[in-house]
Amino acid sequence: MEMLKMTDISKSFFGVPVLKHVDFSVEQGEVHALLGENGAGKSTLMNILAGVYTRDSGTVLFNGEKLEHTTVKSSDAVGIAFVHQELNLFNDLKAFENIFLCKEITKKSGMLDKKAMIKKAGELFESLGVEIEPTMMVSELETGKKQLLEIAKALYANAKLFILDEPTTALNNEEIGHLFTIIRKLKEQGKSFVFISHKMTEIFTIADQYTVLRNGEFINTGKITETNPHEVTRMMVGSKYCEQEAYETRECGEPVLELGHLSGHGFSDVSLSINKGEVIGFTGLVGSGVSEMFQTIFGVLPITGGTLKIRDSAVSMHSIHNAMKKRVSMIPSNRKENSVIQDFTLLENCYVSEHTLSHKIQHIFSRKENKKFCKLEKVLNIKSNSPGDMITSLSGGNQQKVILARWLNTKADILLMDNPTQGIDVGAKAEIYKLINQLAKEGKTILVNTLEIPELQQVADRCVVFYHGHLQTELSRDDMSEETVMLWATNAINSLEVAK
Ligand SMILES: Nc1ncnc2c1ncn2[C@@H]1O[C@H](COP(=O)(O)OP(=O)(O)OP(=O)(O)O)[C@@H](O)[C@H]1O
Ligand SMILES: [Mg+2]
Repeated sequence: MEMLKMTDISKSFFGVPVLKHVDFSVEQGEVHALLGENGAGKSTLMNILAGVYTRDSGTVLFNGEKLEHTTVKSSDAVGIAFVHQELNLFNDLKAFENIFLCKEITKKSGMLDKKAMIKKAGELFESLGVEIEPTMMVSELETGKKQLLEIAKALYANAKLFILDEPTTALNNEEIGHLFTIIRKLKEQGKSFVFISHKMTEIFTIADQYTVLRNGEFINTGKITETNPHEVTRMMVGSKYCEQEAYETRECGEPVLELGHLSGHGFSDVSLSINKGEVIGFTGLVGSGVSEMFQTIFGVLPITGGTLKIRDSAVSMHSIHNAMKKRVSMIPSNRKENSVIQDFTLLENCYVSEHTLSHKIQHIFSRKENKKFCKLEKVLNIKSNSPGDMITSLSGGNQQKVILARWLNTKADILLMDNPTQGIDVGAKAEIYKLINQLAKEGKTILVNTLEIPELQQVADRCVVFYHGHLQTELSRDDMSEETVMLWATNAINSLEVAK
C-alpha cells in the first residue's frame, strides 16, 4: 500500500529552481533511500513534506489524504517525524526535556511529571541501546550522543513515516547497528522510513527501495536488490564519476607537532611525534578522546598534563588565537554548533579565520577576496549562487565545503580535521581525499579523525587508534585493515590476547 505519494513537486528559492517536477513515493513498511549529490534537493523535498518549506506546485498524498498548506505542526499531526540533517536540540535543556518538549507528561494537577518523563526517557534510551543519562544537560553530550538523542526524540513520536536525513554522520558502527535493529522492528509494525545518507554500505544494508535525484530532477527509482553501489553512484553524479585510489607515497620532513605524555579532558598520556607533510589518521569509537585531543591542540580545551610542542616551540598558555597564530587550523565535528556562523554569508564564513588573524575589521570584502573565494569555490566544487548568499541557504555538504575553504584560505600548515567529510557526497569525498593528498605533498601536516576506515586508507600514512582516552596502538598503512582497526578500537584485541 502506498503511504506517501508526492507528484510533480517544484520549488525555487529566489527564482532559482531547486526541485523540478519531482515524483517520490513510499510504500507502507518500506525503507526508502533518497539519494543524490550535495545540493541535489533531498533535504528540500523532505522539508516540503514536513511543512518546513512550502512547495511552488505539485501534490502530496499521505495515506490517501491530500496534504495542503502543510505546516510543521500539521505534518507532525498526521504522523510524519523528521530527524533533520543538522542537530536540532536545545543545549540548555536536559536530555529528557528535549524528548518531551511540547509533549510533556503532566500530573493530574497540571504540574509537570518529571519523574515519569525521566523514567520514560531512560526506557527509551535503553531500548535504543543508547548510553545517555536522561538528566544530563544536552550541552555536555558529545556529538554522536546528541545525534542519538535526536533520533530517540523522533522515534518517541508515534509516527507512521520517519524521515532520517543523514542520521549517522557521527555514529559508530555499533550505534548504527542498534539504529538499524530498531528501524527493522518498526518496519515490521508497518512504519515507513525515508533514509538519506551518503554512505553506500548503510544504504545497501537497510534500504528496500531507492530514488535518485540529480540537480533537482527525478532520475530513477527501483528496488535496492536490483542495483549496486556503482550504478547508483553513476545515477547520482552522471557521467563525471570515476573511482580511483587517491593515496600516493610521499616523503615526510622533520617533526612539527610533538606530544609528550599529553593529557586533557577526555584523554591522557598521549605521546606522539608527527612530521611535516604527513597525513596521520586517528580513529576510535565515539568517546575515544580523539576529538577532545584535537580541541586541546587547537586551544579550545586546556592542557592538563604533559607537553605540546608546535614547530620546536613548547606551548604553555594555549588559546585558539594562539594556535591560529602558530598556523594550526581545525575543522571541528558538528558543523552547525562549532563551525558554521549562521548569520554570515558564504564569503564572511570563508574569510572569518583569515580576518581574525590579520585583524582586518572594516571593509573586508574587496574584489580580490571575491575572486579568491571563487577560485576556492571551483577547487571544492561548492554549489551556490553568489558569495553574498547566507551560508544557511547552502545544502549541508556544501556548507561543509565552505568550512574547508575557510582554512585553505589561511596560511595554516598543520590541519586538524575532525570528521571532515561529514555529509559530503561520494563524488566530492573523492575530491577531498585528492585534495588532502595534494596538501600533504605541498608540505602541510594533516591530522584526520574519522570513523570510516576506507577514508583513512585513502589518505593516511599511518593510523593511531584510541580507546577510552588512551592511545591503544599505532598501525602502519599496511596494517590499517578494517578488521585490525576495529579489534583495537573496541579493545577486543586485549580479550583475544587474554584468551590465548
Ligand atoms: N533556504 C534556502 N534558500 C536558498 N537556497 C536554498 C535553501 N535551502 C536549500 N537551498 C538550495 O537548494 C538546493 C538543494 O539543497 P538541499 O539542501 O535540498 O540539498 P541536499 O540534496 O539535501 O544536499 P546535501 O547532501 O548536501 O545535504 C541547494 O542548491 C541549496 O543551495
Ligand atoms: Mg541535505
